[in-house]
Amino acid sequence: MSTTFVKEMRSSGNGTLVRVSVIAAIGGLLFGYDTGVISGALLFIKTDLHASTFQQQAIVAVLLLGAMVGALISGYLADRISRKWTKVISGIIYALAALGCAFSVSAGMLIGFRFILGLSVGTASFVAPLYISEVAPPRVRGGLVSFNQLAITSGILLAYIVDFAFKGFADQWRWMLGVAAIPGAVLAIGMLTVPRTPRWLVMNGDEDRAREVLEELREGDEHADVDGEMREIEEANERERGTRTKDLLSGRLRPLLWIGIALAIAQQFVGVNTVIYYAPTILSDTGLGSSAALAQTVVVGVTNVVFTVVAVLLLDRLGRRALLLTGTAGLLVALLVLGIYFSSATLQSNDGWLALAGLVLFIAAFAIGLGPVFWLMISEIFPVGARSKAMAVCTIINWGANFLVAQTFLSLSNAITREGVFFLYAALAVLSLVFFALRVPETKGRALEEIQEDLA
Ligand code: BGC
Repeated sequence: MSTTFVKEMRSSGNGTLVRVSVIAAIGGLLFGYDTGVISGALLFIKTDLHASTFQQQAIVAVLLLGAMVGALISGYLADRISRKWTKVISGIIYALAALGCAFSVSAGMLIGFRFILGLSVGTASFVAPLYISEVAPPRVRGGLVSFNQLAITSGILLAYIVDFAFKGFADQWRWMLGVAAIPGAVLAIGMLTVPRTPRWLVMNGDEDRAREVLEELREGDEHADVDGEMREIEEANERERGTRTKDLLSGRLRPLLWIGIALAIAQQFVGVNTVIYYAPTILSDTGLGSSAALAQTVVVGVTNVVFTVVAVLLLDRLGRRALLLTGTAGLLVALLVLGIYFSSATLQSNDGWLALAGLVLFIAAFAIGLGPVFWLMISEIFPVGARSKAMAVCTIINWGANFLVAQTFLSLSNAITREGVFFLYAALAVLSLVFFALRVPETKGRALEEIQEDLA
């Protein structure tokens, strides 16, 4: 199964493309690391900094708010100063804010630095797929853009490992939060070595440099047609010259925006981050001891990475729709399993494995479908004139929905029981499935410009 993406990557030449995509995807690593690190670190922070319950929640949640603001600002910056420089800045801010968190002497100070960190995470979350989609050739774009999702899931796993490794150290939480400065610095320095994207260059009137970059990116690629690609980019740029952000709301772009927003909301409303943030809680409620619950959380993290690799390998072969629909159907089954498990006292006392099986199926299904496909699709469906703004809107909504779900999971569990919450997410998965089947287009293997011409 692996072979198409790998073969295509081999035939696509000189390594430059892989190098720039991997560097850009470090943005995903920062995103994932933060998602994963905080639950472990919080255990120590709360005693060390005497954080109240409110402050503890703020330490976690303020990052999500920062991410929304970061996405808003960089929707503008990515057009203004280029995708590349936006990512350089985000790497620098990330590294500094990570150090700020590590050296915080009060809960208030930590909350402030977590907000700044969030600005950078929100930026990284969509400028990474934006950058990669604009340098990748169509036939491997799905896999390459999803390097970013692979980096997110690896970041989450890395954070679990780091939390585990430092837990016996003095000042453990400071180390847990501080080591993130390293990938932040690597991102900033790495981004200095990559070119600005050909699409951004054309949009800013520098066709000559755009062609040079494209030649560099396609060097050694036996399928490359630099003239054809340049022509398509230039034509689209001409056509889209007048596209403004307001067209997103009123004009022909509105249906596309709805698709992006629906994907953004669905990605969070199926409850993925309750699993990521609360897996140890869910599992220890099944009667496992807390250390077994932690070990099984690592199983969830590894499954997430492994199935994202599967997605990277298959997206350009089976297409986005096939994976999105299969993945969402899998989520639905997993949510029903979890719901049934928590509604039956007999299952809970005899069949603890079922909860773990449900969680593993859930995360595998997310990793092949909604996880990568949301970020990929929003980098593909919008025309260049509105792309970064539209992606920013979808990203803000995604972080907002993330915030909402994370804030409500525990209180919702109290109000309608844990099984009730899983059945609620299952109902939302059904709605998503219907919407995706009816509305989400296939974008596999086509030039970005071709996709947008068709959709518009
Ligand atoms: C989502 C995150 C989630 C992660 C899990 C990402 O695509 O946007 O909210 O934590 O996947 O793998």
